[in-house]
Amino acid sequence: MRRIPTAVLISGRGSNMAALLEAAADPSFPADIRLVLSNRPGASGLERAAGFGVATQVIDHRSFSDRAGFDAALDQALTTAGIQLVALAGFMRLLTPDFTRRWTGRMINIHPSLLPAFKGVHVHQQALAAGVRLSGCTVHFVSPEMDSGAIIGQAAVPVHPDDNADRLAARILAMEHLLYPAALALVANGQARLIDGRTAFAAGAWRAVTLTADLDG
Ligand code: GRF
Repeated sequence: MRRIPTAVLISGRGSNMAALLEAAADPSFPADIRLVLSNRPGASGLERAAGFGVATQVIDHRSFSDRAGFDAALDQALTTAGIQLVALAGFMRLLTPDFTRRWTGRMINIHPSLLPAFKGVHVHQQALAAGVRLSGCTVHFVSPEMDSGAIIGQAAVPVHPDDNADRLAARILAMEHLLYPAALALVANGQARLIDGRTAFAAGAWRAVTLTADLDG
């Protein structure tokens, strides 16, 4: 089986990155994670990645005067490493439309809400303020507009009446760690593809990325 050379981009603790690396430790996983790249030198996920024996690289966005310069350096690093698929995992930089277009259909992201609800930041506070009974997480193809690309998979979790943002975040994060490896696998093995702005699935493949948590979990 051909494994797709993949990079994970982080800015922080990297728990989703770790979930992806754990999945990719299985030689039958279709993505070969060869590089973890951070825009922040202090990201704790870098040490975690090194613990998995994966190459790490820092491209500090503060060394660039504009987004285009940073994105060009990022693109070069990915190309040099032979990367064909990119997974954003808590990567807190907006990417330029040019970069995003270059990686169309080959770059995915995880967001901790059921998109299209609650884009951007302070997502769990947004969900609690709206009074929704279900929230969750979404893996999507990255498009130039933030948190708006074609949805690949979602996991729903209940919002409990006594939740605060931290409790809700933790319940969703546990599902992120299941959903993201499943979604990356489908993209890497071609069972989920971006076609005309929508995700097209091989027969039955959507089931692997349509998850629901227990009500009392
Ligand atoms: C996750 O909640 C992810 O959905 C969001 O940022 C957070 C990153 O957490 N995009 P981690 O760095 O993967 O632990």
